[in-house]
Amino acid sequence: MINLIEKLYHTGDLTNAELKALIEDDSAEVSAHLAKRADEVRQKYYGKKVFLRGLIEISSYCKNDCLYCGIRRSNKSAERYRLDLSQIMECAENGYKLGFRTFVMQGGEDAFFTDEYICGIISELRKKFPDCAITLSLGERSAVGYRKMKAAGADRYLLRHETANEKLYQKLHPAEMSLDNRKNCLYNLIETGFQTGSGFMVGAPFQTTDDLISDIRFLQELQPHMIGIGPFIPHKDTPFKNEKGGTAELTLRLLGILRLMFPRVLLPATTALGTIAENGRTLGLKTGCNVIMPNLSPKEVRKKYNLYDNKLITGGEAAEGLALLKAEIEKAGYEVADERGDFVD
Ligand code: 5AD
Repeated sequence: MINLIEKLYHTGDLTNAELKALIEDDSAEVSAHLAKRADEVRQKYYGKKVFLRGLIEISSYCKNDCLYCGIRRSNKSAERYRLDLSQIMECAENGYKLGFRTFVMQGGEDAFFTDEYICGIISELRKKFPDCAITLSLGERSAVGYRKMKAAGADRYLLRHETANEKLYQKLHPAEMSLDNRKNCLYNLIETGFQTGSGFMVGAPFQTTDDLISDIRFLQELQPHMIGIGPFIPHKDTPFKNEKGGTAELTLRLLGILRLMFPRVLLPATTALGTIAENGRTLGLKTGCNVIMPNLSPKEVRKKYNLYDNKLITGGEAAEGLALLKAEIEKAGYEVADERGDFVD
């Protein structure tokens, strides 16, 4: 198995059979070696830098009904909220003072947020924070809409493909959604000139190793600038409430593999990983991750943006939270970068 890691490290790829063997191996020795190689590669391109992205969760309304997600439209117990322009600007101002130079506006697919409305927010952010990157994570929208948002000043867009297996995609999503449309959106985003992020959940219900390999192959085809992966975590008010969640071990194994396959990619140690394992985010950093996305949403709305149970809601929300996070990052041997943290070509 160590040989496979070496092959991946030197050539950047493996056959499907080799990938399967590496993903399904669960020995600590292999994980440690993979982390070591992944860290070497991340340091070659990004040094010890960790980029912070301030996450502003702008709406918990969603027209979609993804079976895994806590803010799906059928979840009648979900509390809904939507931030207005002044609230969003206030989050960004707080974030700026704390040192954030990327703001991520994420939300459910909320019809209230028309292209024009979103573009208005982007323009305000762009004017007020010319030195910051603006990232959007607002789901599937039209190619025209994406172009308008780019023209208004947005730089990056996150849209996980969720799973590259058509059949599994159907099991995780309502009938009106399709993998084809998802992929189209991703290609449109890249075509529009966004630094584009995709990704998937690890350990989603019905997911097999072959599905994970399909996810990796799709990412190789797409060549995104960012890859977000995190464990599936059941949410109590969804049809998947009794399903098993993904594990930190498997998530870390995949993070290490992704770093070796995509040496320059921006790879977050996700909140979901931090939620299921005590040192999840630190372990992520030590396995090739170079991004952390603390929450800048107003305190009162945080618990309403509940994609999964027990979601971590601490982090960069206060000067004190950020100091703790910085200490955690430094203790792991890395340093917080005070820059936008763009993809390096
Ligand atoms: N567990 C883990 N991740 C989830 N997401 C949504 N619901 C869950 C869940 N129950 C992820 C999806 C989505 C991202 C914003 O959050 O992958 O793209």
